[in-house]
Amino acid sequence: MNLTVTTFDNQLHREQTITLWTVVFGYKADHNIPGLVIDKKIQFGDGLFFVGLHNKTVVGTVMAGYDGHRGWIYSIAVSPEFQKQGVGSTLLAFAEQKLSELGCMKINLQILESNKAVEDFYTANGYQTEKRISMGKQLTQNIF
Ligand SMILES: CC(C)(COP(=O)(O)OP(=O)(O)OC[C@H]1O[C@@H](n2cnc3c(N)ncnc32)[C@H](O)[C@@H]1OP(=O)(O)O)[C@@H](O)C(=O)NCCC(=O)NCCS
Repeated sequence: MNLTVTTFDNQLHREQTITLWTVVFGYKADHNIPGLVIDKKIQFGDGLFFVGLHNKTVVGTVMAGYDGHRGWIYSIAVSPEFQKQGVGSTLLAFAEQKLSELGCMKINLQILESNKAVEDFYTANGYQTEKRISMGKQLTQNIF
């Protein structure tokens, strides 16, 4: 396959990304509605949102974040018909390189405990499970 990784472009990639995420993630929570997630990331403007293209078609995504202390990886997704061909690993390596260029020393990420396949994917890419309790709180005033 012919894979190119590039920065997300809202005009070119928005609709395909929403379709991909809806297929792959099947959202249930309001704060994860694809259009809202994309709008918030674009508004933040850190440029850490990337797509994998095959012949100009979005076949994968990865989002990263850096706060000066830790780097984070979010929303890694590959179209089902393009999985197990190295696309996810290529996207992850690309995001890691961008975080490294910003000075990031350590990347964290969260996965659902039930998502064994994704755990295996990250393990294959050099990540280790760290025993932590993950906590979160929604700021509902910003979810609209
Ligand atoms: C996780 C995901 C991004 C991996 O993308 P991918 O392009 O298929 O991954 P790669 O081809 O780069 O896989 C690299 C290695 O990871 C491991 N791996 C990948 N998918 C796996 C799976 N379903 N089960 C077990 N191991 C897996 C394998 O070791 C693989 O190497 P191999 O193909 O030589 O065996 C993709 O399966 C996906 O989109 N899953 C659904 C979305 C999701 O749950 N994202 C995570 C949200 S936190």
